[in-house]
Amino acid sequence: MNNDIKAERPLFVLLVAGIGFFVLSFVAMGVFPWLTIDRIQPPEVATNPYQDESGNPTPAGLGREVYIAEGCWHCHSQFVRPVANEEFRYGPRSQAWEAMFDVPHLYGTRRIGPDLSREAGRRSDDWHLAHLWNPRSTVPGSLMPGYPWLFEQKDGRWQPTDKALNLVAYLQQLGSYYREDVRKQVWPSRVTVSGAPLPTELSLGRGRALFGHYCGGCHGENGNGAGLAADFLRPSASDLTTRYLPREEVFRILFMGSEGSAMPSFAELTEKDLWAISQYVHELGKHNRKPALDYAAGVDRRERGHGLYVKHCQNCHGESGIVPPAMENLKPAPKHFRDRLYDPTYLVQVIRKGRPGTAMAGYSNLSDRDVEDLAAYVSSLFDPKLYKEE
Ligand code: HEC
Ligand code: HEC
Ligand code: HEC
Repeated sequence: MNNDIKAERPLFVLLVAGIGFFVLSFVAMGVFPWLTIDRIQPPEVATNPYQDESGNPTPAGLGREVYIAEGCWHCHSQFVRPVANEEFRYGPRSQAWEAMFDVPHLYGTRRIGPDLSREAGRRSDDWHLAHLWNPRSTVPGSLMPGYPWLFEQKDGRWQPTDKALNLVAYLQQLGSYYREDVRKQVWPSRVTVSGAPLPTELSLGRGRALFGHYCGGCHGENGNGAGLAADFLRPSASDLTTRYLPREEVFRILFMGSEGSAMPSFAELTEKDLWAISQYVHELGKHNRKPALDYAAGVDRRERGHGLYVKHCQNCHGESGIVPPAMENLKPAPKHFRDRLYDPTYLVQVIRKGRPGTAMAGYSNLSDRDVEDLAAYVSSLFDPKLYKEE
């Protein structure tokens, strides 16, 4: 073999390959998309979400400016790529027309945080506010910085400024064309759960640790609802010490989440962990079972309560406390009363004050007697035969 040729060849090959690949990528990523872009038609519903008809910025448009100014795009991309598992993690992959009103584009390249292009409907507004105020309040261990300067103090409480509200409006419209697909992915439909395994010392310990990790930010370390995020949540994170919840019912709630509230679905945890947490939450409210059943035992009260229930509550909570399917569409949905018991004092308080941030209004006009009778009737709807006492 000739030595000269050996020395020259690699350079020649490199040159041709270099130019070749440059041309190839220019055609594939520049020329080809440019030629075909007209063929990608946006759906007819596509309207500019950032401007109203007279050209003024909408809240989402103003929020987009906050997003740019705060540099959120340093850590978040907005592009679901067509590679394995992206669709599983985020939802349908991004289409070219989706960014047609996005100038400048905010695709982003770094993913220190998750992709945000399918954020619409994934979380409630109050979840976002609590998260912006302090990401650790809703996601323990989060690396994301807090943005307290998007909040101001009013009447001794931290309230979101217009900037924060606009930013949330922006997040809530990211990928809104795919809201329904994402909704099905993040909010599983109603499941029935049975056959809770019996707790062991080990599983209870694990449940407590997992609760501290995943739930404490909202529900507080000891489950009384006073977590870091408490100021922002409407409805508030439930005080889990005020209710008896069978383990199966907690499992169901953890699996489904409560759409319309900050309570996320934890369906991605393993079944074993979900049972461990369910057992721990069950323990938190177990002491309410007996007093609540005793309270329900007062027959006169119950009868009178029944009449009031039919008049005021049955539409939403259903006959015998089984919520009719149509009412499950309320977000959050009314509670079933067959699977739970409340501390009587709490029950009276909820009937009087309602649950701000939900369809459950307070009944401040009813007399003390009416409210107590209602509470007795609601307690009597629990079906003790379904759940053995242990
Ligand atoms: C230093 C990097 C960083 C910056 C800057 C940043 N984030 Fe994040 N973000 C993260 C990380 C990490 C997570 C994942 C943990 C979590 O959910 O808090 C996250 C999560 C999120 C989520 C939750 C998505 C979901 O549904 O789970 C939203 C929404 C979000 N960020 C919005 C923003 C906004 C708006 C800004 C700008 C005001 C911003 N982020 C700035 C790193 C960052
Ligand atoms: C981001 C805040 C947040 C986190 C994190 C969170 N929750 Fe919740 N949780 C809520 C809110 C808000 C509600 C009230 C929902 C409603 O009223 O429909 C709720 C409701 C519940 C309920 C329903 C109570 C009832 O009577 O129906 C249970 C049980 C519960 N959470 C358990 C947990 C557990 C266990 C975890 C951790 C694995 C957890 N939550 C994590 C905010 C949160
Ligand atoms: C317009 C529909 C509607 C009516 C009418 C209604 N509720 Fe509710 N109720 C709801 C919804 C929605 C929730 C779920 C709130 C939440 O997620 O925290 C709820 C929750 C509750 C809770 C549980 C609160 C908690 O912390 O878990 C109780 C108890 C209750 N309702 C009792 C009643 C009683 C008693 C009446 C009649 C006097 C009544 N409700 C009338 C919609 C309604």
